[in-house]
Amino acid sequence: MDSSFLYKQYIRPLLFKLDSESAHGLAHQSGHLAGPLFSMLTKEFKYQGNDLAVNLAGTTLENPIGLAAGFDKNGLLTSMLGNIGFGFAEIGSVTGKPSAGNPKPRLFRLIEDEGLINRLGLNGDGADVVADRLRQTKLSLPIGINIAKTNDPAIKGDLAVEDILHSFKAVQDLPAIYVTINASCPNTKEGILEEKKQLSTIFSEVQKLNTRNLPIFVKLSPDSSNELLNDMVEAAINNKLAGFVCGNTTTTRNSLRTNSAEVEKIGAGGLSGRPLKTLGLSLCQRISQLKQHDQTIIGVGGIFSGQDAFDYIAAGATVVEIYTGLIYEGPTLPKQICNELSQILTSRGMTIAQAIGSETKVKS
Ligand SMILES: Cc1cc2nc3c(=O)[nH]c(=O)nc-3n(C[C@H](O)[C@H](O)[C@H](O)COP(=O)(O)O)c2cc1C
Repeated sequence: MDSSFLYKQYIRPLLFKLDSESAHGLAHQSGHLAGPLFSMLTKEFKYQGNDLAVNLAGTTLENPIGLAAGFDKNGLLTSMLGNIGFGFAEIGSVTGKPSAGNPKPRLFRLIEDEGLINRLGLNGDGADVVADRLRQTKLSLPIGINIAKTNDPAIKGDLAVEDILHSFKAVQDLPAIYVTINASCPNTKEGILEEKKQLSTIFSEVQKLNTRNLPIFVKLSPDSSNELLNDMVEAAINNKLAGFVCGNTTTTRNSLRTNSAEVEKIGAGGLSGRPLKTLGLSLCQRISQLKQHDQTIIGVGGIFSGQDAFDYIAAGATVVEIYTGLIYEGPTLPKQICNELSQILTSRGMTIAQAIGSETKVKS
């Protein structure tokens, strides 16, 4: 029996009977415990071709499908994620201090939309604990580490910069292939880091510490105005950032199928999944026009298929990441996306390198 069918027919209905956060916890624990099993079923889960190999900021990945930040906030799954076919994974967000995040409930499914709304608020073990854990783990795939400011309104100004630098210092000697500065979490009291001056300071202070020349990315919000994006890209260029993660969840609630009263009842939070794709793709296109030629885009938001991945790649992304798709489609999604993407490239007579930015006029 096909594993995707098995997931949708039997496992997902059971998981969806639980509240979203408990289901996530259970899926997470099962992944942790079933790691060795996945390694025995490599063929079932891993794309076997070699036509999707791609270079991400100096590292060659087997395929361009990554796990988005937030799924493995504490670095507990890095020994098995490679076995379910991911090309890379972004761990975190990790924060300077451990944090319980916002009160529960804080994670909700919009089943009709194949979306999620979350206001977890950067819960996690903190940078020191996660770094120690990763140091002792045999990684099954290349990882990036996403760092964010601790969710505490008292940590602001110089303290905010120090908090982020603390995380960077904790993770910078890990065998990560890049670090992302998450400047776009919609679920903290402070929200998106909008101040150009503060962001520039964070970028330049991180780079001063960055003696290993780790590629540094910044994660952007699809809700940002063009003016704010201009400022952020300018700060990123001035501080020699490697690129952009496009992007985070949205606080907008447009064109949803789910009953509006139900959506309203859920309240605040970042929306992810299918309804996010148009906004995420538009962010990717806007950044393609602003970035420098040698800067890289990691595309994320509403990716459920090879066509979705291709759309982001054609809009300028070198690689893509998934989160909500994994909840709805199950652990065979990375392989499914790879198979479909490979077919699309073949039908267009393109290599993956040729596909990157093929539908966007990239500034050189
Ligand atoms: C429950 C949940 C938690 C998340 N936590 C983080 C996080 O800690 N840091 C971060 O940068 N993005 C976080 N994200 C955002 C995802 O990385 C991704 O940008 C977003 O979900 C869009 O992708 P998707 O539509 O494939 O889910 C989270 C998303 C979800 C659904």
